[in-house]
Amino acid sequence: MKYKSQKVAYWFFALSMLLLTLQIVYGFIMGFARIGMDGLHEFIPFNTARAVHTNLLVVWLLSGFMGAAYYIIPEEAQRELVSVKLAYVQLISLALVGVAAIVGFHLNIWEGRKFLEIPHQLDYLVVANVLLFLALILLTLFRGKRKTTTALVLTMGLLFAALLYLPGMLPFDSQVTDSFFRWWVVHLWVEGVWELIMGGILAFLLIKLTGVDREVIEKWLYVIVGLTFLSGVLGTGHHYYYIGVNKIWLVVGGIFSALEPLAFLAMALFAVNMYRKGEKKHPNKIALFWTLGAAIVSFVGAGLLGFAHTLPQTNLYTHGTLVTAMHAHLAFWGAYAMIVFAIISYSLPNMTGRKLYDGARGRLAFWTTNIGMIGMTMAFGVAGVAQVYLERKYKLDFMEVQNEVSIHFVVLLLCASLFAFGIIMYIIDFVKHGRPTDEALEIIEND
Ligand code: HEM
Ligand code: HEM
Ligand SMILES: [Fe+2]
Repeated sequence: MKYKSQKVAYWFFALSMLLLTLQIVYGFIMGFARIGMDGLHEFIPFNTARAVHTNLLVVWLLSGFMGAAYYIIPEEAQRELVSVKLAYVQLISLALVGVAAIVGFHLNIWEGRKFLEIPHQLDYLVVANVLLFLALILLTLFRGKRKTTTALVLTMGLLFAALLYLPGMLPFDSQVTDSFFRWWVVHLWVEGVWELIMGGILAFLLIKLTGVDREVIEKWLYVIVGLTFLSGVLGTGHHYYYIGVNKIWLVVGGIFSALEPLAFLAMALFAVNMYRKGEKKHPNKIALFWTLGAAIVSFVGAGLLGFAHTLPQTNLYTHGTLVTAMHAHLAFWGAYAMIVFAIISYSLPNMTGRKLYDGARGRLAFWTTNIGMIGMTMAFGVAGVAQVYLERKYKLDFMEVQNEVSIHFVVLLLCASLFAFGIIMYIIDFVKHGRPTDEALEIIEND
């Protein structure tokens, strides 16, 4: 069953693609700066480019998650969204807050806290925006005909993500306390509540694409939620090793964060098993590629590459180096970017009525983005390990080391070009699908 109000999702996805494109532009600005081609330095110095790159990432992913919720919740709750008009108001205000923040960064209006650079005045607008979003989603869910586990996990993830934004808004004079609470946002988002959002979207897609019984799929979802909280909450300690808090965190952080890959492993096993079990041959293969891909690549990027530097003995040397950037790229890509690509690939044909899936371009986009991103991860990794040895072990000067590793950024840029090519292919398909139509959403499918 489809609902006309689901088409709101399309515009959130469109905003998402637009901001992703911009994010990549700033990635290239940084990549070129790293090999000495820093012509834009006067207008966009490296630190500005970095803040824009990472904040755009967060906003395009959130826009993708919101689009996913506007698509999934009506279908799961079996009713139209409570207000389409307000959803568009929310979309426009989200875009405005994003643009204001980015413009601000270029004018040097920002806070020097990685990932939370948005100035605190704008934070209140973010809160208002997210409250409106949550009100629309929660009202739709509770006035709906059914409350499925999938919908509840997705909504819980979104609700907790909003609540966890608040500790990042508290002002502290102490650098230590500030850092302590910054991780409640950054860590508990990506290694906690965002995993619930991912799990919810993943479950929805697997139900639709494999045809396996909802009961079976939702049982797995409980396992994933359990493992996530068991490991992820105290796993926050892997950011507290050497920031000036109690040494107990070396033990707590080490043990619990080492368990975190289990939640990602469970997600990968879950997706692959459901795919094997599924008898339904859903025609939308490319959505299935992205869905299984997200589950598998997130295990590699977040689980394995996260584990690679999570023990205190290792983190002592790798902290804040390009090893972190290596892990960050593949983790964000696998877990959150790919799941957004999956829900877009699944929902677009349903909203537009154009069954464009399975074309060569879609498959090309899948493979080139993934191979490009794996290459980028390796380039960051090699540069990172070299940096750790030269800077942390042999005590060479920071800038001298950055110069030594710059050759790896040539490789990075080559791989990034392949990646960007794939993104362009994906966006061409997105545009070719055209706008959503009411007729497409009136077709009643038996899925
Ligand atoms: C053409 C593509 C891209 C290029 C050339 C690129 C390049 C870079 C560079 C040079 C940095 C700064 C590393 C440093 O501190 O020296 C960076 C940071 C970062 N990028 Fe990208 N990037 C690209 C795409 C992406 C994508 C698609 C994602 C997410 C899926 C992403 C996520 C991040 C994150 C999370 C950071 C911060 C890492 C940290 O905190 O250490 N980037 N990127
Ligand atoms: C999808 C899930 C994940 C994403 C998107 C992600 C992303 C990131 C990012 C962006 C950073 C840099 C943060 C900053 O410096 O502000 C980071 C740091 C870190 N991550 Fe992850 N991560 C994920 C999962 C994991 C997991 C499961 C582990 C452990 C098994 C892990 C271990 C670490 C460690 C130890 C650091 C600190 C690096 C340092 O000291 O510089 N991550 N992660
Ligand atoms: Fe973490």
